[in-house]
Amino acid sequence: METKILKVDSPSSPLLEDAAAVIRSGGLVVFPTETVYGLGADALSSQAAKKIYAAKGRPSDNPLIIHISSPDEAEAYTYTSDTYYKIAKLFMPGPITVVMTAKDTVPLETRGGLPTVAVRCPENPIANKLIALSGRPIAAPSANLSGSPSPTNVKHVIDDMMGRVDMIIDGGSSDFGLESTIVKIENDGSLVLLRPGKITREDLLAASFDVKLASAVTEGLREGETAISPGMKYKHYAPRATFVLLDGEKEKIFDFLGDKTGQNTAFFVYDEDETYFSRLLGVTLYRLGPRLDEESQAKRLFALLREADECGHSVIYAPLPRTEGIGLALYNRMIRAAAHTIIKL
Ligand code: TXA
Ligand code: MG
Repeated sequence: METKILKVDSPSSPLLEDAAAVIRSGGLVVFPTETVYGLGADALSSQAAKKIYAAKGRPSDNPLIIHISSPDEAEAYTYTSDTYYKIAKLFMPGPITVVMTAKDTVPLETRGGLPTVAVRCPENPIANKLIALSGRPIAAPSANLSGSPSPTNVKHVIDDMMGRVDMIIDGGSSDFGLESTIVKIENDGSLVLLRPGKITREDLLAASFDVKLASAVTEGLREGETAISPGMKYKHYAPRATFVLLDGEKEKIFDFLGDKTGQNTAFFVYDEDETYFSRLLGVTLYRLGPRLDEESQAKRLFALLREADECGHSVIYAPLPRTEGIGLALYNRMIRAAAHTIIKL
């Protein structure tokens, strides 16, 4: 398939009309959002949903998020509630996805056969305008091949999707860099946090929501465990190299890595520790961002995993993030990329 690449700088670009026409005719368009790039198609067409699964190489029982241009459009596709509108008022448009009971208007293919559907109203003006111009919701998973890190710039998209989609919209680098927060609304109005993101558990608690953390978000944490604990079935966002998380002070990490030099080893270092670790000749350092600036780390993580992979390292080590605030989103993506391999130092 021939893939057209459009550089779009503003939501008023006339090129977005061409992209909307592709969506309306059942084609695939990769578009930027504030979280990661999405692989979009008409959410109301089962044929279009099937094309998404094929282009990504994704199992068709893993449901798609439907993207709307305004929160009240959810009425047509789900049974909404006061809880939904409270979330919408506080956080939409923005990087949050809400799972609710689906209406029959959403094809089973789009929702992976589930009785529920996930709805998100993106803030990125290009994404928002594309949905509005298309005149229908856009189903969009992250625009990576199944299993690899989500794309946060157009180079990643081209690497994974060239020849597999009709069009790619280049809208620059993603603002946040990790996928949206996903919450499910339960019958009693409480929330289950299924995937942490920029809208944090603390943000939801501060707005007085009753929030439970789904165990899968942090599963695999083995407090006090020294042995490696692989859990291959959870592997995701995974580089080709072995990715391992190190839980310990920087001095302990230094000693640990001291034994790994000359083994084609990489380490994701906090910016301020770069000089300290640069004494370890034979370990390639990649700057993850300042230790306390988790937004910078979130923005870089997926790009670093791809970059380190291209350099052909056999093992990539990274410090284990904390589980508070945006740290929880980093923690969740990193333990999955590492297939839950955490070494306690
Ligand atoms: O930031 C994002 O959410 C990006 C951009 C493109 O919007 N999209 C994204 O989609 O990350 P995807 O498909 O890569 O991840 C969506 C996740 C999947 O893990 C899927 O299993 C889950 O959402 N999901 C979708 N519908 C669901 C449902 N009805 N119930 C539970 N989980 C659902
Ligand atoms: Mg994804």
